[in-house]
Amino acid sequence: MLTLNRVIPMLAAVTPGEGLFALTAAARITVTPETPELLAIGGRLAELLRPATGFALPLTAGSPQVPGDIHLAITDADPALGSEGYALTIAADGITLTAHRPAGLFYGAQTVRQLLPAAIEQQSVQPGPWEIPAGTIRDAPRFAWRGAMLDVARHFFSVLDVQRYIDLLAAYKLNRLHLHLADDQGWRIEIKSWPNLAHHGGSSQVGGGRGGYYTQAEYAALVRYALDRHIVIVPEIDMPGHTNAALAAYPELNGDGIAPPRYTGTEVGFSSLCTEKELTYRFLDDVLRELAALTPGPYLHIGGDEAAATPEPAYIRFIERVQAIVAQHDKQMIGWEEVAKATLRPEAVVQFWTPRPEGYALACAAAQDGAQVILSPATKTYLDMQYDPTTPLGQHWAGYVETQAAYNWDPTTFIPGLPAANILGVESPLWTETAETFDDLAFLAFPRLAGHAEIGWSPAEGRWWEDYRVRLAAHGPRWDALGVNFYRSPQAPWTADPKK
Ligand code: ACM
Repeated sequence: MLTLNRVIPMLAAVTPGEGLFALTAAARITVTPETPELLAIGGRLAELLRPATGFALPLTAGSPQVPGDIHLAITDADPALGSEGYALTIAADGITLTAHRPAGLFYGAQTVRQLLPAAIEQQSVQPGPWEIPAGTIRDAPRFAWRGAMLDVARHFFSVLDVQRYIDLLAAYKLNRLHLHLADDQGWRIEIKSWPNLAHHGGSSQVGGGRGGYYTQAEYAALVRYALDRHIVIVPEIDMPGHTNAALAAYPELNGDGIAPPRYTGTEVGFSSLCTEKELTYRFLDDVLRELAALTPGPYLHIGGDEAAATPEPAYIRFIERVQAIVAQHDKQMIGWEEVAKATLRPEAVVQFWTPRPEGYALACAAAQDGAQVILSPATKTYLDMQYDPTTPLGQHWAGYVETQAAYNWDPTTFIPGLPAANILGVESPLWTETAETFDDLAFLAFPRLAGHAEIGWSPAEGRWWEDYRVRLAAHGPRWDALGVNFYRSPQAPWTADPKK
């Protein structure tokens, strides 16, 4: 069925028109002005559309539009589109996509992709036709932070796996990938001044596998890959708890100076950097300096959660010292909600995760310090929670989170007393105690992550489950075409028809 109502996240405004646009073998993708960034966005759209259509879709810059083309343009005419919004006109004689900033064109291109039949996602030539009903769309995000977190510490995931995850995030207009790079079970990023972190600390994972780590060159390439898809990578080194891998690599960071054995279990709350030694702060200055140099984005995440092995007064002094180190490296500190026990600098960002009175109080305390809050309530956004008791992967300490429950909540009403002005956005953490392969990640993330993407992007009004579940079902054939091992929740009317 031809429809403009299949896009996730839901479009902010759609006006249906008369007739339809058909993508044909004669079509070109044109961009103005001719900048490397816009050529890259146009080129990526062409790469998405070529395999299934078999069309050449040449990319040309600055040329006048010929009927049948897809034209991408940056204009100053509509600054209200902001840094990520776009406008799309679909007509029988062509598609015109305009934005105020390049990110808007990137997101508009994702919308064009989703407006085409699901077969567009196939990697071999499909019969078509490649039609979109005429209409106009005006779309911009509700929240600035639309994130996903991947825990590469409990199980290590290859550069290729992370790139594949990034591609899926980009398709749903997410713009942050938070990488949980260090935990008790493994340290996953090369730090040149403390090489044993990766060499020794990286050589384990949950269950005792080989683990692994990213060299700085590999990590820098991942950062670039993500930026090319308008995703900022946010690196997290969890501290002062969740640090057994670092303590095993450098026992002098431990209170008793003795190296603990490597840890391959799934308990939390037993490790702590020694908060009383000056060496600990020299170590953190080195680590955060190297990480800051690898990070074009403004944020460094310092974890701070579940520090049960650190006495609270020492924890508070530790967080206050670490946030000063982060600031010295010209970055904004992000921490899990517990960091709000300390007095935060106003540029701090706090990630709420515990939907209980303590968690609500910490989120509100952070807002009182002037901090922005990211909402990651475990009962809604934790992608490692089982869908139901039969789900073969995941945990259920925060309950079972089926697709509808993951979708049915709103960031501005979730935390009593938290001012809307302090809400930066939404992020979906995927902890990997039970996930070992890309297929495992995909099964836990999809379909729930698509719903979180909609919560982060789409206007609250007009967003409702009965409409969403029908749009969601139309994404099943897309994920099948992409080889995404998604969970066929009984809550959505899945179809196998790739013409949908
Ligand atoms: C967390 O789930 N420990 C942030």
